[in-house]
Amino acid sequence: AKAQTVSASRFPFKPIPPHTDFDIHVPEGYSWKILASWGDPLFDGVSEFDHETGGSVEESDKVFGENTDGMETYQIRGHQVIAINNEYVNSDINLPQTEDGIPQSKADVLKLQNLQGVTVMEITEDDDGWRIVRNSPFNRRLHHNAPMTASGPAAGHDLLKTSADPDGKHILGTMGNCGAGKTPWGTYLTCEENFNGYFGATSDARYSDTVKAGYERYGIAPEGRYGYEKFDPRFDTSKDPNEPHRFGWVVEIDPTDPESTPVKRTALGRFKHENAEATLAPDGRVVVYLGDDERGEFLYRFVSTHPYVPGENTDHLLDDGTLYVAKFNDDQTGEWLALTPETTGMDQAEMLIFTRMAASKVGATTMDRPEWIATNPYAVEAYCCLTNNKNRGIKTNAGGDETPVGGPNPREANKYGQIVRWYPANEDHAAETFNWDLFVMAGNPTVHEGLKAGSDNINEGNLFNSPDGMAFDTSGIVWIQTDGNYSNEGDFAGMGNNQQLAGDPATGEIVRFLTGPYGSEITGLCWSADRRTMFVGVQHPGGSWPAEAGLPRSSVVAIKRDDNDLIG
Ligand code: FEO
Ligand code: CA
Ligand code: CA
Ligand code: CA
Repeated sequence: AKAQTVSASRFPFKPIPPHTDFDIHVPEGYSWKILASWGDPLFDGVSEFDHETGGSVEESDKVFGENTDGMETYQIRGHQVIAINNEYVNSDINLPQTEDGIPQSKADVLKLQNLQGVTVMEITEDDDGWRIVRNSPFNRRLHHNAPMTASGPAAGHDLLKTSADPDGKHILGTMGNCGAGKTPWGTYLTCEENFNGYFGATSDARYSDTVKAGYERYGIAPEGRYGYEKFDPRFDTSKDPNEPHRFGWVVEIDPTDPESTPVKRTALGRFKHENAEATLAPDGRVVVYLGDDERGEFLYRFVSTHPYVPGENTDHLLDDGTLYVAKFNDDQTGEWLALTPETTGMDQAEMLIFTRMAASKVGATTMDRPEWIATNPYAVEAYCCLTNNKNRGIKTNAGGDETPVGGPNPREANKYGQIVRWYPANEDHAAETFNWDLFVMAGNPTVHEGLKAGSDNINEGNLFNSPDGMAFDTSGIVWIQTDGNYSNEGDFAGMGNNQQLAGDPATGEIVRFLTGPYGSEITGLCWSADRRTMFVGVQHPGGSWPAEAGLPRSSVVAIKRDDNDLIG
């Protein structure tokens, strides 16, 4: 019966089997080519990628960045521009001359800082496929030292002030740029996720109770993950305890103006942001769905005070509004709990800087690591990938809440993940209540029964784990990308490498479209203006992909139908 479902599918391609090799696979009648790989020059005169060194520090802010993630395309005065997150680094690969990638100098740290953040670049298609337009005036890199401003209720608060920025409004850099989003007015939203690992302390320091509690909840530890604090005092919390408060935000970037300064929108809260899915309520107010990807943390929604009016100034829209956190009830109802000084007992700015603590005070539901959220363009409903949670029901995270099994998080030691879907009341994304169901619960019916087998729409032909990236196309297909276990053994037998699947929101049918090279995760998805190309991100591939030999390079690939028909 399940095989028949696949043959009667609404999808215009024949699903592919799992793969375990160092290659990309797509269905018959489709092909892929590289658009850009880590280290590709954005400007004339910049050296081609060097597999011995991974590139020089001097040129590291003039190339496509490392670890490609969320991305969006823009059509600007006849030019195709793409904004792409460069989430983090694989320092052993990026600094091949060091032992285990541990930076030995300020220059090593600077190179890592330059390879991350966001790449904005013009792209074009000719007979050989898609490529970067070198020297385009749109090309820019927004790395860990790029000037930004803060706006909204927390901008200028004492907890955002540092020795270099006594105003608390002028921040250098964006980091941990994971998922992304696009506003109705055509700006790019880049989301700061795992910012905590960039900070460390070179000496013992006495922190205020407020700062200390924040460090505990957000995972700021004395030992940094990348060694920045040893060579760049800005990342040394024993010198500048407030610097970590300046990250963990959603940043708005205007890709149409390469001179514009990115803005950290503090009204959207501070946590480990995954993506930012923006949509409109029927009255024109802007609704932005936001996930906090950490075990035992929450799912959020921002609703603007003012409506979006095309053609009018949009600069205030993401500065003025209310942040809500989701409560999911076991009876498949749910509600959005407003975070306000009244409900949290915190002042407005502190509530936004320590959003996680504010959400704990109102009794929100701890989730199985919310990753990307996507809204259906043809129905008033939203989907969130809950990637997995090995600790569900077992223990709490440091400083976090209890994580009981229940509601949309029905499994203890959840290895596979699920996708929760909610239907806002009155077909209004700004409504206070919703109903929910699970679009899919991943699992493995070939090795387990019961909850570990997954939901009915999981079968031998579409096995996957750890859904993460997600986006709808204009035809109403929901595309699901995975970042999970690729051992292809035991609990994960038959799943193969990380992959991209297509889902039918109406029937729940899910089929496999693409498999990535061994070791990679598939993350980031957007389309060319003519919808004849789908851009897909391949992050941290293994081996030496995409070359025969040398260093592996995260890359964005362009996928087309061989008949050049629409692909989403
Ligand atoms: Fe950067 Fe939660 O993925
Ligand atoms: Ca992710
Ligand atoms: Ca990842
Ligand atoms: Ca993930």
